[in-house]
Amino acid sequence: MSNAGTGLKGVVLDETRIAFIDGDEGKLVYRGYNIHDLAHVATFEEVSYLLLYGDLPTRAELAAFDRRLKAGRPIPEQVIDIIKSLSAANSMDVLRTAVSALVALDENSHAANAELALPVGIRLISQTATIVAAMHRIRNGLEPVAPRPDLSHAANFLYMMFGHEPSAEDAKIIDLDLVLHAEHSSNASTFAARVAAGTAADIGSAIVAAIATLKGPLHGGAAEAVQKTVEEIGDPQKAIDFVEEKIKAGEKVMGFGHRVYKNDDPRGIELKDIARDLGEKRGQGQWFQILQQVEKAMQPYRAKGIYPNVDFYAGAVYSLIGIPDELFVPMFAVGRMPGWVAHVLEQYEDNVLIRPLLDYTGPRHLRYVPIDEREAEAVAYAS
Ligand code: ACO
Repeated sequence: MSNAGTGLKGVVLDETRIAFIDGDEGKLVYRGYNIHDLAHVATFEEVSYLLLYGDLPTRAELAAFDRRLKAGRPIPEQVIDIIKSLSAANSMDVLRTAVSALVALDENSHAANAELALPVGIRLISQTATIVAAMHRIRNGLEPVAPRPDLSHAANFLYMMFGHEPSAEDAKIIDLDLVLHAEHSSNASTFAARVAAGTAADIGSAIVAAIATLKGPLHGGAAEAVQKTVEEIGDPQKAIDFVEEKIKAGEKVMGFGHRVYKNDDPRGIELKDIARDLGEKRGQGQWFQILQQVEKAMQPYRAKGIYPNVDFYAGAVYSLIGIPDELFVPMFAVGRMPGWVAHVLEQYEDNVLIRPLLDYTGPRHLRYVPIDEREAEAVAYAS
């Protein structure tokens, strides 16, 4: 059967025990646990453990896992130098290159089986956050800040980024954001990671493939695009006209639509509440009002299954915490790391080369014309 032009829509690639999505119901389940039950109560560390090991940890298991995450935080000086040399580059290019260098520099990280790749994956979860924070410092003319082992993953990330301990509220919000982004089944970047792992390439290569795939505005890049839209609109009263013009011009409204969800994205519901409350508390309710007006203008398209997705409110939350637009996609990568790692491990456990077919629609019986004859023909044609 041909899937021409469908982008593999609706095609089931394999089985997984990591996450379940019901797109019609707007339901997301990590290893059996509904995302709404995990959000606010389970930490990013706990959820990472759940995704990697398949069960929620005991207190002792979580403490041991947390020690491993913390021990994995530092990055080598050579990687810092690479980030410095790329300080003007696109933030996702920097992240992809830095993770690639990190893996290339560490010969212990070239594992391509589940058992050996697990410790590498745990380290990469931590180090990705360190890279993104270092990138932020360097881009702002500041020296990177070394990780602090007494802070949680989310609090340490903000600490490394801003150079001071974050408020408990900011750390909690980022923790929740990372939990919401941690896993999403066979989305484009995870699929890319599984394809790389399926060739028996090492986990580092698979993660680099995932980061490269996340960059695009149809996937991870949407939050940044939403924020730019909000800034362009500038005034809640202009939102409805802006949306109407976009739709009339046949353009997509960023932060809406999803390949799987044809209902509210449950992650977006959680982030919407945070964006509203935080905006009000910090006297910056304007951004939320613009988003709400855009959502209102998009209401008629719900009938077509176009609802706000996770990226619609994420950008507003990041901005309110002081994270600049260019780091929105890298933030997504920091959150998605445990999901990518879990999928790479699952792929290794029962590995098979992933190699679909393409339905060839070009000519099949052309006669090869030697280059001199082709040029003679071209001259004859031109004259
Ligand atoms: N704005 C306006 N119309 C839309 C939008 C949108 N954001 N999304 C989908 N549609 C329309 C399409 O124009 C199409 O209409 P048609 O049937 O009249 O031609 C129909 O809905 C189906 O859309 P497709 O693009 O074919 O759906 P697909 O599953 O291929 O795309 C995608 C999903 C890429 C996410 C799309 O909705 C989109 O481009 N959204 C904007 C970008 C975005 O927010 N991406 C983030 C996704 S979430 C994530 O990756 C974390």
